[in-house]
Amino acid sequence: MDSRKPLIFSFIFLTLIILIILFVKIIYIIIGIIFIYLLTRYIGYKGVKEYNNLYVKEMEIKLKDLKEELDVVYLADFQFDVNETTFNHNAMKRVIEKTNKLEYDLLLLGGDFVNYVENIDLFFEYLKEINIPKLGCFTVLGNHDYIDYDRIVVKLEELGIKVVDNDYFLLNDNITIIGVEDVWRGHPKLPNYPNDRVNILLSHNPDFIKEISDENEIAFMLSGHYHGGQIKLFKMTLQRTITKYVYGYFEKGRTKLYVTSGVGGSYGRGKRGKYIRFNARPEINKFKLKRESLWLKVLTQ
Ligand SMILES: [Fe+2]
Repeated sequence: MDSRKPLIFSFIFLTLIILIILFVKIIYIIIGIIFIYLLTRYIGYKGVKEYNNLYVKEMEIKLKDLKEELDVVYLADFQFDVNETTFNHNAMKRVIEKTNKLEYDLLLLGGDFVNYVENIDLFFEYLKEINIPKLGCFTVLGNHDYIDYDRIVVKLEELGIKVVDNDYFLLNDNITIIGVEDVWRGHPKLPNYPNDRVNILLSHNPDFIKEISDENEIAFMLSGHYHGGQIKLFKMTLQRTITKYVYGYFEKGRTKLYVTSGVGGSYGRGKRGKYIRFNARPEINKFKLKRESLWLKVLTQ
């Protein structure tokens, strides 16, 4: 009998095994590529629809020592430009139209108006159409607004919008509006405000909550910045790796925090920028601020 025969059989057998493994791996790789391609197309298709599906999210927030009910509209993260010359006019018009249909006593803005300095004038051409209610409009600037901070402040104040970066304003005999500069680009610092009133804090970046304790007497804080995750697969977002305050309602001590998904934003910038949102629908926030009944709180605890 030829002694090389088992060797040849073993060689053929092993070669076959390796070929089968390679074949299975290639099939997996092909399936993987097809899956990623289809997922990208789906995100692209559904993402555009969702971006344009702006809605008004209404919430009731109960605040201790609030004397009178108040309707507040809050808007943040416009950024309707992906480059110097591309501006999403329809999305911007939609924000103004939907806001102007609402009834509210106070308008608060959370910053991030534009991405590019070239679009500042265009943005304010639209913003000047927004209804400024009887108690006024207050804002802080977002990280993107630092491209030309001073010019944006001038433009805001021309419209009668008060900038409260590291500053505060006594709204009436009960409420103070406080603001801080952006966490990433500015030097956020709480000003010296009176501590016997209902204090509402604007901070573009929600991570400033980490600096807040009960001693600061902040009843309600409003933020944005993360666009609700912008592209969220199940509960996974890139932003979630940075912070837990990506989107929604939170409480820390006696401070209530709402982080808006924002009205706009863009995914990426420059030529590759896209107007896409996936599982992070854009929103206009309308808060009905009510007095918190301490008796009810004790009874329901
Ligand atoms: Fe931002």
